Amino acid sequence: LDHLDPFLLLDEMGPSEVGPGEAKGAPDHPHRGFETVTYMLDGSFEHRDSQGNHGHLAPGDVQWMTAGAGVIHSEMPDERILREGGRMHGFQLWVNLPRRDKMMKPRYQDVPNARIPVATSDDGRVRVKVIAGQSLGATAVIDTRTPITYLHVTLAPGTRFEQPIPAGHNAFVYLFRGAGEVAGKAAEEGDMVLLGRVGDGVTLVAGPEPLDALVLSGQVVDEPVARYGPFVMNTREEIAQAFEDFRAGRFGTIKATVG
Ligand code: FE2
Repeated sequence: LDHLDPFLLLDEMGPSEVGPGEAKGAPDHPHRGFETVTYMLDGSFEHRDSQGNHGHLAPGDVQWMTAGAGVIHSEMPDERILREGGRMHGFQLWVNLPRRDKMMKPRYQDVPNARIPVATSDDGRVRVKVIAGQSLGATAVIDTRTPITYLHVTLAPGTRFEQPIPAGHNAFVYLFRGAGEVAGKAAEEGDMVLLGRVGDGVTLVAGPEPLDALVLSGQVVDEPVARYGPFVMNTREEIAQAFEDFRAGRFGTIKATVG
């Protein structure tokens, strides 16, 4: 995925088995002008930032970070997985912010698995974890700056599921387990299906195995994008300003903490 407005990228971490001492992370780095959304399936991360925030992401947890005007943060495997190794699998999505929110105060929504609504169809064959937006009558607890739908859909073999997509949204589906159909076309594990503006909705059908997919849609921001590494702004001047602010230490620093 490379910029399907408002989405900037989707990065899949793993799935992989890591030995003791092998797990990798992202040491101190800045972000400005957009949001990073981390969803862990297996393994765990420890997060620290220049606002003094510190937390852990365990399997099933979501961190929705609105970088806004800027943070420096680190995203590292936690002590247990570094010591013992284990399975790592997760996703990081980058969501663009509209001009009015690019310089907002950074905001975190750390949501543990237990607080994320899961909707199930009457026959139990469709399970939808509602990270953002709405599905099967369930509404997410995460608040987004612009309307976003972020679902983890699990289908039993042969099951069909339809998700309405609001008008004015771009949508995509990332299938990460099993095979079947997305919007009437065959899709298999690892397929990213870009749907753009679908108008009414998207249909998923599982083949003979269970299927897992992320279903995403977001209201189009429709503004100029100037992007350089961890900064996503509207103009080149704003990117230059971000570099200058970063060099001048205006993003702050991460204070060493114990525990
Ligand atoms: Fe980051």
